[in-house]
Amino acid sequence: MSNKKNFYITTPIYYASGNIHIGHTYCCVAADTIARYKRLAGYNVRFMTGSDEHGQKIQEKAIAAGVDPQTYVDNIVASFKQVWKDLDISYDYYVRTTDASHMALVQKVFSELLEKGDIYLGEYKGWYCTPDETFWSDSQVVVDENGNHFCPDCHRPVHLDSEQAYFLNVKKFVPWLLEFYNQNPTFFSKDKMNEMINTFIKPGLEDLCITRTSFSWGVPIKENPKHVIYVWIDALLNYISALGYKTEDESLFNTFWGDDCEIVHLVGRDITRFHTIYWPILLKALGIREPDQVIVHGLLLTKSGVKLSKSLGNALSPYPLIEKYGVDALRYYMVREIQFGTDGNFTPTQFVDRLNSDLANSYGNLVNRTLSMMNKYFEGVIPEYADPTSDITKKLYEDIKEKLVQYNAAMESMDITLGAAKAIELINLGNKYFDDIAPWTQAKEGNIVLLKECLYAAAEIIRIGSIILSPIMPNKTVDALNQENVPEELRTLPSTEVIGKLSNIHINELSALFPRLKKDDEVKYLVELIDGPSQK
Ligand code: MSP
Repeated sequence: MSNKKNFYITTPIYYASGNIHIGHTYCCVAADTIARYKRLAGYNVRFMTGSDEHGQKIQEKAIAAGVDPQTYVDNIVASFKQVWKDLDISYDYYVRTTDASHMALVQKVFSELLEKGDIYLGEYKGWYCTPDETFWSDSQVVVDENGNHFCPDCHRPVHLDSEQAYFLNVKKFVPWLLEFYNQNPTFFSKDKMNEMINTFIKPGLEDLCITRTSFSWGVPIKENPKHVIYVWIDALLNYISALGYKTEDESLFNTFWGDDCEIVHLVGRDITRFHTIYWPILLKALGIREPDQVIVHGLLLTKSGVKLSKSLGNALSPYPLIEKYGVDALRYYMVREIQFGTDGNFTPTQFVDRLNSDLANSYGNLVNRTLSMMNKYFEGVIPEYADPTSDITKKLYEDIKEKLVQYNAAMESMDITLGAAKAIELINLGNKYFDDIAPWTQAKEGNIVLLKECLYAAAEIIRIGSIILSPIMPNKTVDALNQENVPEELRTLPSTEVIGKLSNIHINELSALFPRLKKDDEVKYLVELIDGPSQK
């Protein structure tokens, strides 16, 4: 468990070039779940997201839309913020690369590194991928049997280009980078580290071309304003510009980029290279600390294994899912079903099965049957807690403790999929306990002590389960806690370790948390949503 109390987590900043699709929402939901958990666990959290608004592609899109680039990105950013609001993404700060404060930092960093000699003026020749805005070297570009050249990332055609440009002296830092990996083996996953070393570093890392003259929508450098900064360098600096680095007030930077802060960047696997090679080098050149971890998550793919992507136009908006199933259900599905760190598919059958089994049949059912029985047998009052008489109850309380330990260990290490699984296992303990004790039978036979013991224990499971599920489902868990009328002081993470304080609480009105979905109808609806209506 980390002993650092300040915690800084970031998502990548999203290209302001189109609508948010469910692939993008995955990263924000994952980061939000971690941020919410860390807050619950008492950390001083700063959670940041934002948008990447410069570059040729955005300039071209603005022209096509007949508006100036700033108006274009302002509109897109408004729509991004709306999506994050609708998904309950609890970011503390939203950074834009068109913010004056951000642009000022980019210029300062450029000037400082130019002065130091870590940036120099040269000539760039290479293979340029316009959609990705990336130059590739001969050794990196993919060549087919007809001699056509393609981008190794997105597999679209590239063309030869050359321009006068400024370069970041990457080669100088390669020995340092390898040593840094050596000293910090958990900086990112072992397999990705090997991939970066074998694919990019060993074949010989070139100095990075960091300015462009072929378009103007970017941060101009002060020393030579026809050059604008390469979009990736501009973008990476968001992580520290958003903390006020090199401004009059550096207090946020000192707290959240200080040595006693745990710093985590969450990124999709397609942008690993920038975050694990160029970003550490840039920070080293600036003489400031490195992040603790870059967590690389997998991508959401289509059935046929292709990345859901804005530019490929194959990606689903989160809205139909939010509207039909609710935001918590969508968030839960993403966290629980898509193994954190590996690629996943959005599959209608799995979606419906997961919602039915974990949310309707397990969590929702436990809340509903426990609270209904409290109404039926005890006039809506949680029975008085007493030391358990039954061995089944004693064992249940031990099992709850054990699940909590497992849940906290998973969430502390940011394995949110495992954390979600442990939370639902805890809820399942409640359902199994209910079946074992069969409170309806105890009621019929007049065993009031055991009936009370059972309903009390179930009330505790609802409370504890709702608290630990709250980072994933911030709404329905509050609904459940409200239905049970749990006081504020018993909604904290430390309070999950204390049993016995719910006695005699009057519960509130009940309402179903999650409807049970009709599998065939819902799968049909989802398939049509993804593939379009079937031909008749
Ligand atoms: N602007 C850059 C990031 C700069 S960070 C200093 C960028 N933007 S992006 O909009 O293309 O992607 C933002 C994030 O969304 C990336 O982490 C990317 O991996 C993620 N995703 C885009 N499509 C995705 C899926 N289909 N599935 C999961 N995540 C996906 O890259």
